[in-house]
Amino acid sequence: MVLRPAHVCHASSRRAKLSSQRSKPLSTTGIVVDRGLEGVIVGSTLLSNVEGKEGRLTYRGYDIHDLAPHACFEEVVHLLLYGHLPTKDELESLKVELGAHRMLPEPLITAMQSTPKHAWPMDVLRTIVSGLGLFVDVDQTGAHTSDVHTAIELVAKVPTIVATWDRIHRGMEPIEPRTDLSQAANFLYMCRDTVPDRVAEDAMDMYLVLLADHSFNASTFSARVTASTKADMYAAVTAAIATLEGEAHGGAASAVGRVLLEVGKPERAETYVREVLARGQRIMGMGHREYKVRDPRAQHLETVARKLGEATDPKWYEIARALEEASNKVLKETKPDRSIYANVDFYTAPLFYSLGFSGDEFTPIFACGRIAGWTAHVLEQLSNNRLIRPQAQYAGPPVHPFEPIERRTGNGKT
Ligand code: COA
Repeated sequence: MVLRPAHVCHASSRRAKLSSQRSKPLSTTGIVVDRGLEGVIVGSTLLSNVEGKEGRLTYRGYDIHDLAPHACFEEVVHLLLYGHLPTKDELESLKVELGAHRMLPEPLITAMQSTPKHAWPMDVLRTIVSGLGLFVDVDQTGAHTSDVHTAIELVAKVPTIVATWDRIHRGMEPIEPRTDLSQAANFLYMCRDTVPDRVAEDAMDMYLVLLADHSFNASTFSARVTASTKADMYAAVTAAIATLEGEAHGGAASAVGRVLLEVGKPERAETYVREVLARGQRIMGMGHREYKVRDPRAQHLETVARKLGEATDPKWYEIARALEEASNKVLKETKPDRSIYANVDFYTAPLFYSLGFSGDEFTPIFACGRIAGWTAHVLEQLSNNRLIRPQAQYAGPPVHPFEPIERRTGNGKT
């Protein structure tokens, strides 16, 4: 899992060129570093494959275009954690185990109830997931067991935390999870106190399937780095949640939500895009480090966002559609050498608005799907572990004498 010269390969000559422009070789080892590790292979995985040029995403060899319409989230959880799609009996027993683990320890609900209502939902999720470890036995080193059942417990509990905070911060009493509903339906039920209709449940389920894993994305890599130190799964998932928060990763859907509000109507989309780009800013939900075509997940999310919009209010979908068209048009004019297209977060925003969520909650809901991938990656890391510990190119001053305190002037000179 460490960077060694033989393992540092660049996906294309363009990337290699970019890399050498941005970085200098390490004199001691000859390794070329890239600030964003773009195109650098740092490990291998059996879990998912992102083929950026083709715009293909597969989980253990299954194309998400097949999984999204045909498999439920629980089947994907089984696929990632156990290595194969479940039989009917295996699926049933996974559903029973998930249902049995949905309840949170009472003190964590009380902790959320005493948290300021304005607290950011991702901060709450990160803190409470970390807190889950407090209620589980530790070994002599302070570590918890990190096995497939810990993974299932986390898959079950993360949506409970998100839904519980969703109600508490809106001044409502939390609702106990149900064991007879799917992950998607139970999550919506816990937020709304109503069992969702088929359209809403299917939309939520498809979202969870599409977000379940995405190779070595930043939050998953963070989880693997943490697990590689032999920290346990609660620690690794806490690190992943912290990494998911930023706008360059899971925070983008909330940012798209704010954009939809600002644009307000489809006719304003092109003016908005031109203004943003003229200020040197980015269009949220557009562009991806790996995909140089439209993100394959976007087409399914667009379809469900449109369907849900038809059943509720088409406004959000229509603004998003106009915004994507305007972005494609204006980016082609202004950045013709770049390939910047809609990513997974783009149609998440109209979808979630149509499901009745506020923008602040979009990133924690992302975690309800990605928890499947994070935990599967932690198990994979632990099954063949090697500490992930890269090097940095030192760019500070050369070795020089220590200055006694009485001779220091405060400006670094003696
Ligand atoms: N809008 C406008 N320009 C964009 C852009 C966007 N959304 N995304 C990338 N670009 C441009 C950059 O300005 C840069 O152009 P320049 O070299 O002419 O200045 C070029 O594309 C490369 O940008 P860079 O940041 O090196 O690409 P990256 O591979 O690191 O970008 C993202 C990946 C996701 C960070 C980037 O596309 C982005 O910031 N998107 C918006 C946020 C978002 O949707 N994040 C969720 C990702 S799933």
